[in-house]
Amino acid sequence: MRWIAASTVAGLALLRASAAAGTTVPPEPSIVWGTCSVCHGNDGISPNSSFPNLAGQTETYLQSQLSDFRDRSRADHDAKAYMWSMAGNVSGNSLKRIAQYFSALTPPGSAAGEDPVAVAAGGKIFEQGIDSENVTACQTCHGAKAAGNGAFPRLAGQHRDYLVAQLKAFRSNERDNPIMHPVVEHLSDEQIGELAAYLASL
Ligand code: HEC
Ligand code: HEC
Repeated sequence: MRWIAASTVAGLALLRASAAAGTTVPPEPSIVWGTCSVCHGNDGISPNSSFPNLAGQTETYLQSQLSDFRDRSRADHDAKAYMWSMAGNVSGNSLKRIAQYFSALTPPGSAAGEDPVAVAAGGKIFEQGIDSENVTACQTCHGAKAAGNGAFPRLAGQHRDYLVAQLKAFRSNERDNPIMHPVVEHLSDEQIGELAAYLASL
């Protein structure tokens, strides 16, 4: 019986093999089901555009964010409101397993219906930056097509509203980050909207 149960679970896990990473999704940590999944979705694709998608995000970045929520160094409005208590419930040695789990899930697809003019303008900033405003090309760190790598998060297919909120939080230093603040410091609300439209459309 035990063997049958284990092989069924393994079979299900194989069915959820990630297309991007080509790896098998590890077993779901128990806290994910019924807690994290309420806001982030069972498949790591969140149903609410203020809650980030976690599927296919880099493992290093997921782990660093959970530990930043736990030690309260990520202190933007929604981090405080939602994630400080959530991350406080996660034991130190589960952080890595949770990060591995979400990272292995298939990343979100592109959002339909973004304004093509905004998408094109955002794509230009993403690929080329803006010299006159000291905006470094985003792809230098986040990779071509924003797939992310290690400490540089994946942005492709992320929810537009979440991206806008984060870029504004970096700009105001509410989300205090010495790498992202200078990059977005001089961006206007309009340019932030264009970048978010482009990234959501990838
Ligand atoms: C009640 C809703 C809610 C629940 C439950 C929840 N989260 Fe979150 N989570 C959020 C919100 C909202 C944010 C965005 C915070 C911000 O804007 O700074 C977030 C952000 C995150 C991030 C950062 C993602 C990024 O792209 O930077 C991670 C990682 C995360 N959550 C993991 C978890 C895990 C693991 C659990 C379960 C232990 C969980 N969350 C439970 C609402 C929730
Ligand atoms: C010099 C490298 C670098 C450049 C250039 C850069 N980023 Fe980032 N970005 C980072 C790092 C590192 C993080 C993770 C910060 C953290 O750990 O909290 C990040 C985080 C982000 C996040 C938060 C993602 C999430 O899930 O919460 C967004 C959105 C973002 N960057 C967008 C951009 C955009 C748009 C540009 C171009 C205008 C850009 N970045 C340019 C390094 C960079």
